[in-house]
Amino acid sequence: MSLRIALLASGRGSNVEAILRAILDQHLPIQPVCVLSNVEDAPVLDVAKDFQVPALSVPHRGLSRESHEAQVITALDKFKPDYVVLAGYMRLLTPQFLAHFKESLYYRILNIHPSLLPAFAGADGYQEAFDYGVKVAGVTVHFVDEKMDHGPILLQETFERRDDDTVETFKARGLAVEHKLYPKALNLLAQKRVRFVKNPQTSRVYVEIAPHVPASV
Ligand code: GRF
Repeated sequence: MSLRIALLASGRGSNVEAILRAILDQHLPIQPVCVLSNVEDAPVLDVAKDFQVPALSVPHRGLSRESHEAQVITALDKFKPDYVVLAGYMRLLTPQFLAHFKESLYYRILNIHPSLLPAFAGADGYQEAFDYGVKVAGVTVHFVDEKMDHGPILLQETFERRDDDTVETFKARGLAVEHKLYPKALNLLAQKRVRFVKNPQTSRVYVEIAPHVPASV
């Protein structure tokens, strides 16, 4: 059975596009059930339509965070997603939203962040890493928890900052990494290779990935 994902995004949607493209091209066992945006005219909604995925707009303007989220939850529930996949969704999630997607050790919500977390959490990971002068930068796909850009890490991938980089070339290289990493992370989930482990000393939950077992012939 394929993994049902709801994609949430606020902007251009290059990650959503990369995920939808990878599902088709690589025949991933993933069903994108809807794309939802809090921005009525976000380009990501056109991306969804191009791939014939239901595109939903739930504008937040004029609503309290709680009532907007209640509308988002109602909209998502109709599609029965297994996972919520945040891809440039520029809204903080409240505990009521998290609670709706809670499993025993984690929430069924993923995010992609443009840095090697826990470094450079926040709104502009690439810019901050670039300005800091890191030699090695990266991208993180993680499960969401109560804190911003925080939660069990599923995958990370590095890329170098070159001496002749401008912030634009640096961001472009990072974005290309994102576009490969997010589909790969979702595929691990779809293949049920992701396991959550709680460290009894620290109470921290982290992720282990089971090796790929090729189907027997
Ligand atoms: C990406 O850099 C992602 O890591 C961050 O927001 C950006 C969204 O870009 N969370 P796009 O809309 O997917 O092109």
